[in-house]
Amino acid sequence: MPSPAAPAPMKVIYDTDPGIDDAMALLFLEYAPSVDLVGITTVLGNASIDTTTRNALYLKELFEIEAPVARGAAKPLVLPLTEEPHYVHGHNGLGDVPIPDTITAAEHELPAHRFIIEMVRKHPGEITLVAVGRMTNLALALREDPGIAALVKQVVIMGGAFGYSGHSGNVTPVAEANIIGDPHAADEMFAAQWPIVVVGLDVTQECVMTTAYMQELREKAGKAGQFFWDISRFYEDFYRKATGIDGIFVHDSSAVAYLLDPSLFETRTGPIKVVTEGIAIGQTIQKPTTRSFPPTPWDGLPDHTICTAVDTERFLDLYFRTIVEGAAARA
Ligand code: BDR
Ligand code: CA
Repeated sequence: MPSPAAPAPMKVIYDTDPGIDDAMALLFLEYAPSVDLVGITTVLGNASIDTTTRNALYLKELFEIEAPVARGAAKPLVLPLTEEPHYVHGHNGLGDVPIPDTITAAEHELPAHRFIIEMVRKHPGEITLVAVGRMTNLALALREDPGIAALVKQVVIMGGAFGYSGHSGNVTPVAEANIIGDPHAADEMFAAQWPIVVVGLDVTQECVMTTAYMQELREKAGKAGQFFWDISRFYEDFYRKATGIDGIFVHDSSAVAYLLDPSLFETRTGPIKVVTEGIAIGQTIQKPTTRSFPPTPWDGLPDHTICTAVDTERFLDLYFRTIVEGAAARA
């Protein structure tokens, strides 16, 4: 008997602000056999839009990634531009490792939000959006074509925090970077009728790639392993000073891990709102589906899923295997 055909790979658009952990998550997607990466869209965040777009093009060239790169939002929807977090990702967004002046890969002709609309309309019901930067491009796409919400298969984001395992914020005591960077965009995204899975600090800060893990990756994952080692020196230093951990939190790759194997996570459902002003700006608050309250601003909003716990050992193993095998296949 012939063996049953493998399911078709998932079509994914990766919305990103590379960014050290963004770069590590990009290769996790690119090397995952179950993913067909159909586009990379950039957004400001870890660095300016010029820098994050240049970095995405550089990664595309360096790792021979076929997916096109479409340039996205240069500023948040409502908030003014603020200084970039050079102290986390370096001045060039990639840990200040030298990047060539000239990149030959060219940008896609469409801006990111129109690229998203075009791809979703072309492949109704098939596209998953994995968004690991500010949610500005997703909000712009929804504003221009609200009908795409019903045509997107799934949205998986890295962002937010809900207080599980003591994790509630990394920019303020209650706000995570991707959400506080454009809280209005995040709130609009959560109000849309599409299924969102939120992979927040509750799980990403539970997972640490130690120096020893990064060393082993460098030894076994060829060019990718060496590159990850180089770009993560700056990031590791930041985390050592800021939190005392020996290694790096695994933010953006956690969203990819959910996509590849949701069984790694425990979850809770309910509508989500984002605080858009005041001292709690950027806070993400979910009303659990299981609880009832007197009338609240969450009434009538769609349910979304948040991740509340993660099997870190299985996740780190999945990442390691995917990168090592992907690198070997391309050597
Ligand atoms: C998020 O902010 C950025 O620094 C990282 O790339 C990640 O997407 C973590 O809060
Ligand atoms: Ca990011």
